[in-house]
Amino acid sequence: MSRRFLIAGNWKMNKTPSEGHELASGIGQFVKKDESVEVVVCPTYPALDRVSQAIEGTAVKLGAQNLYPKASGAYTGEISAEMLRAVFVKYVILGHSERREYFAESDDFINDKVKFSLENLLHPILCIGETLEQREAEQTLDVVKKQLLGGLEGVSKADLNNVVIAYEPVWAIGTGKTATPEMAQEVHAFIRKLLTEAYDDNASQKTRILYGGSMKPSNAADLLAQEDIDGGLIGGASLEVNSFCDLVDAARNAG
Ligand code: 13P
Repeated sequence: MSRRFLIAGNWKMNKTPSEGHELASGIGQFVKKDESVEVVVCPTYPALDRVSQAIEGTAVKLGAQNLYPKASGAYTGEISAEMLRAVFVKYVILGHSERREYFAESDDFINDKVKFSLENLLHPILCIGETLEQREAEQTLDVVKKQLLGGLEGVSKADLNNVVIAYEPVWAIGTGKTATPEMAQEVHAFIRKLLTEAYDDNASQKTRILYGGSMKPSNAADLLAQEDIDGGLIGGASLEVNSFCDLVDAARNAG
């Protein structure tokens, strides 16, 4: 089963709307209309509209970094799926470890967001991954299993088609420490096995599993060469046109 590589930039809390416009324009020039790799950029909320304009007519797609799982109403500070769709957002990052840690997001809450996104025609990028403490205590696979199955609770086989999983070991995020390709592959293969058990082999083989955590042009080729790594969710290296486009290139060459 060949899965189309996906390279997604998570800009986190970086880039003003005008800086985002500039970055997205540069990426848009690099990404071909008939691109073999799917390319997504995920700016902050205030930058979404300008970035959306910058990538109009290109093959680059827009993602958001979160949403609130209600249609509208008295939820100060939150953003709805409808608002995201209005600026042509297609993907939404959910369950990022920074949200789990700093905003105490639980698997149940993340699961509500995953289901709400799917009901509202957005593609969730569900992030899962262990901390260093959990890895050292040999709890990696248990943590990944709990977060994966918790996040996907009640998601149908048909809907799984619209979900992307991102394995992001917390100890590798923003630290410069990358999981070795073998370490990452072991967890990716485990995630695929869990998807086969929870759904079936066909659904599992179709699901893209991204790696995230200090992925950069110098290590991307080895990671993307692994059988179950279908792309990357990139933080730091997504903030500059050259490094992000080099990652798109790495995925083109790995395909
Ligand atoms: P870095 O690429 O900066 O390690 O961040 C990874 C990440 O958290 C992407 O969501």
